[in-house]
Amino acid sequence: MNKLKSIILAITALLIGASCNGQSSKNQNKMGKSIVIFFSHAGDNYSVGNIEVGNTKIVADYITELTGASQFEIVTHKYDGMAYNPLIQLAKEEANKGELPPYEGKAPDLSKYDTVFIGGPVWWGTYPQVMFTLFKDINLDGKTVYPFTTHEGSGLANCVEDIEKAFPKAKVQKGFSIYGHEVRAGKAKVEKWLKGIGY
Ligand SMILES: Cc1cc2nc3c(=O)[nH]c(=O)nc-3n(C[C@H](O)[C@H](O)[C@H](O)COP(=O)(O)O)c2cc1C
Repeated sequence: MNKLKSIILAITALLIGASCNGQSSKNQNKMGKSIVIFFSHAGDNYSVGNIEVGNTKIVADYITELTGASQFEIVTHKYDGMAYNPLIQLAKEEANKGELPPYEGKAPDLSKYDTVFIGGPVWWGTYPQVMFTLFKDINLDGKTVYPFTTHEGSGLANCVEDIEKAFPKAKVQKGFSIYGHEVRAGKAKVEKWLKGIGY
């Protein structure tokens, strides 16, 4: 009887141990601690109409959920309520002039993260300028970086190269892109990509 009791206790301990490890490996995972940094524009947009949640935010949320990463959203109110056509014009001007619109709040402290996912919509062939504002305020030396985009035809466009330029000492990996109009039914694609890179 005593032997049976100790076997049951041992199995229970093993099961508890396994579930705790599972939890921490999701948060800590093979790549060390991870964070998803992204910008996304809700409102009037190409192909998807007037959306309450931006396409890239949906992808960022999938990554966060599937990897257990932390999250930092780059927020600006500069484009709030703008119709698509004026936004296109404004974004073009900003890109041409290399403007750096301010974001809300403070840059995140990245010292405890090893892996950084960086994502945004493609605007005129690269990330929106407000993302470059943040890039000036963070240091990704030695960190593993996974760029991602949502787009309507340009794929990753120049985003990977522009991240490499901004962070020459980061370990920038192959990126992931998905059509904006596909993201709401696109969780499996994101999951497949994450599995492919070891998550
Ligand atoms: C100002 C602006 C510029 C855009 N430029 C491009 C582009 O150059 N290439 C492209 O494929 N899609 C372009 N798009 C489409 C967006 O990349 C696409 O709709 C994206 O999924 C939007 O993501 P978000 O909802 O997270 O902002 C543009 C959209 C906007 C609003």
